[in-house]
Amino acid sequence: MPVEISDSLLSRVTAALGERFRLDTAIAASPERLLFRAQDRRLKRTVSLRVNLDTSDALRRWFLKEAKALARLDHPAIRHVYEAGVVGDLAYRVGNWIDGESLADAIQRGPRPIPTVHGLARDILGALEHAHAHGIIVRRIVPASLLLSATGRGTVTDLRYCNLTLGEIPPGEQPTGSPFLAPEVRDGRVGDPTSDVYTAGAVLYFAVTATTPPLEARDLVPPREIRNVIPGALERVILRALDPEPDDRYLTAEEMLEDFASEAGAYQTVTVALPTLSIELADGPHWEARMRRALGDDYELLGQLGQGGFGRVYRVRDLHLERQVALKVLHPHLTQDLATVERFRREAQLAARLNHVNIVNIYDIAGRSGLLWYTMEIVDGPNVAQLVERDGPLPLERVLRLLREALSALGHAHALGLVHRDIKPENMLLERDGSLRITDFGLALALRGQGRFGGATSQSGTPQFASPEQLLGERVDQRTDLYSLAAVATYALLGRTPFPGTTVEQILAKQTTDLMPNLSEERPDIPEGIADVLSRAMRNDVEARYGSAGEFRSALEEAVLKGARRRGSELARLAARILGT
Ligand SMILES: Nc1ncnc2c1ncn2[C@@H]1O[C@H](COP(=O)(O)OP(=O)(O)OP(=O)(O)O)[C@@H](O)[C@H]1O
Ligand SMILES: [Mg+2]
Repeated sequence: MPVEISDSLLSRVTAALGERFRLDTAIAASPERLLFRAQDRRLKRTVSLRVNLDTSDALRRWFLKEAKALARLDHPAIRHVYEAGVVGDLAYRVGNWIDGESLADAIQRGPRPIPTVHGLARDILGALEHAHAHGIIVRRIVPASLLLSATGRGTVTDLRYCNLTLGEIPPGEQPTGSPFLAPEVRDGRVGDPTSDVYTAGAVLYFAVTATTPPLEARDLVPPREIRNVIPGALERVILRALDPEPDDRYLTAEEMLEDFASEAGAYQTVTVALPTLSIELADGPHWEARMRRALGDDYELLGQLGQGGFGRVYRVRDLHLERQVALKVLHPHLTQDLATVERFRREAQLAARLNHVNIVNIYDIAGRSGLLWYTMEIVDGPNVAQLVERDGPLPLERVLRLLREALSALGHAHALGLVHRDIKPENMLLERDGSLRITDFGLALALRGQGRFGGATSQSGTPQFASPEQLLGERVDQRTDLYSLAAVATYALLGRTPFPGTTVEQILAKQTTDLMPNLSEERPDIPEGIADVLSRAMRNDVEARYGSAGEFRSALEEAVLKGARRRGSELARLAARILGT
């Protein structure tokens, strides 16, 4: 916000700095400091120009020390300092220009929108982590010096009271904004990263409630009592940061950020369907190095097992437990969307409750350095798609075993209220002994959201195994999984997808008219009864299908028995003819 300054002051600054800088607007003024938006005539760029008017040595030393501290840091959420110096009786420093307003100004219009506060939290905590890594404890962030850009990005612009300047602060200079300082900093201690966690928590509390936090912890009103739309998770993170006891706060900004990132997104957002991401996942030369660094001392990268539309799956060694596990790392694009991360975390937690011999166990969800992954049991055989590609149509007995094991697994998951939603050959892994392990329970939906076509696509981007209700974006339940399973069985028996077509519309057209391939005609070894069971599970009308995995299973066993009996009597007849009886 522009301010008025006297002509004499303006000409004094112009006399000293006018040759190099064109002073456009005075933004802030106090008795000893001015801030201008200016043009650097030499480098032809807009800059922020801060001028220290006081000629006292002490204040000048303090000012220049702060510039040094800023110059030590290079983070997008901390104002850069390009240069600093003294001309005549003025000290100045030049930094990048940031279009925006202070949080103090923005709050005049009311508390900040929740997504803005989330963005602000990321920026502040990222900035603090960077400062700490460079030996700087910021100690004080106040709404007046925290800039918010039009797009909601936050920038820390003030290091006046940071640990580096402490020795230069003239006696009697008291920091303003004490409610934003950690109690130990108010008491005059240097503080440590947990003190910065406190100041971050205080600023976020202010941003989200438009209320200054009280000096006494016992007077603190929980954010949701002030504004009930605040997500519980955000409140929890802020309250922990504001704990009066440093040891009970987050110990580092990164810890706070990680907890925050894993919780953020619990707020209502309009779910945007994520575009199917390109499969060349971060193939840059640094990808593997980045992976290795993120895995740190926890996992050793051994090789790649496969890749899908949402990430890659690696074989890694768990260095703590001395065993090999599969690690699926999500595409970094996905982890930038807080709502997706939150959905993913919740689904993975649900999936982790499953415990069945035919379901891949999830071990852990974790992340570091901007990457998010989960680890699971490793399955040593191919997936069903690879098996069919290699061997062509599978023997009936093989497919029956798959169906039995899959129905048992689905029955277990459905009883716990979990619908897989993405049963397809790539998610059906086979152990060496041939037993089935289903993977990716519920995760497809978490990652794709309820987008167009219910988010159903496969790695190739074609929704061959999705049910019609899913493709139409309607409500799905356990019968969707049973539909997809029958489609996988048909695929395994024929060696091709049941509804050939490349677009969702083409597939839907066949599904909705129940135009099933005639299995028994193509494979005379398949008893009609079994073909009938599969086509019933795949009826367009959800009500016409089997209601549960158990029902599907009973019908299948009955058809198998009938088929065997018929074959038995055919054999008996044949034998009678041969023996002439
Ligand atoms: N636990 C595991 N053990 C061994 N291999 C695995 C494991 N999980 C996945 N894979 C292999 O990695 C491949 C890629 O899996 P991923 O889930 O990323 O992709 P997808 O299932 O083909 O498609 P989508 O991205 O739609 O899920 C799988 O097809 C499978 O062959
Ligand atoms: Mg998968």
